[in-house]
Amino acid sequence: MKAICYISNFAKDLNRKTIDELITYVNKNNKIQNITGLLIIKNKHFFQILEGDTKKVDALYKRIKRDIRHTGLITLLNTKIEGRIFNDYNSGNFEIFQKFEDMKKLYLYFNWINNANYLPADKLIRLTTNFLKHNQ
Ligand SMILES: Cc1cc2nc3c(=O)[nH]c(=O)nc-3n(C[C@H](O)[C@H](O)[C@H](O)COP(=O)(O)O)c2cc1C
Repeated sequence: MKAICYISNFAKDLNRKTIDELITYVNKNNKIQNITGLLIIKNKHFFQILEGDTKKVDALYKRIKRDIRHTGLITLLNTKIEGRIFNDYNSGNFEIFQKFEDMKKLYLYFNWINNANYLPADKLIRLTTNFLKHNQ
């Protein structure tokens, strides 16, 4: 099992419709592939955490890196994990956070995994929190 976390920027011509289509696709495909994590879309940036079977996550990340809907991708974390962090969150479904209410849910979840003392939860929380702070 592994976890990957990255940030990237919207491609120039990205519009509401394209984003909605992407969200629908991501939700559906990750469910099929049993990939968990989250995708935060804010201020024309993407922030994504993917976790799951190593081969599946690597193959997916290869496709994501080639995707022309975003640019300037920077990998923040690419590491083996012993178990899922997002397993218990929303039944392991892929989560898209766009509304303030969703952010609150995310922080509650962070509190919970922080107490579970699981690494690299710490690191993922720090990365995610920093991203949100800089994109309010
Ligand atoms: C920001 C961003 C995040 C994405 N996240 C996922 C994802 O989590 N799961 C997924 O299957 N595709 C995701 N995609 C779509 C993939 O890049 C790719 O289009 C899709 O897997 C189909 O690949 P293929 O056309 O090579 O078969 C994402 C695309 C972007 C731009």
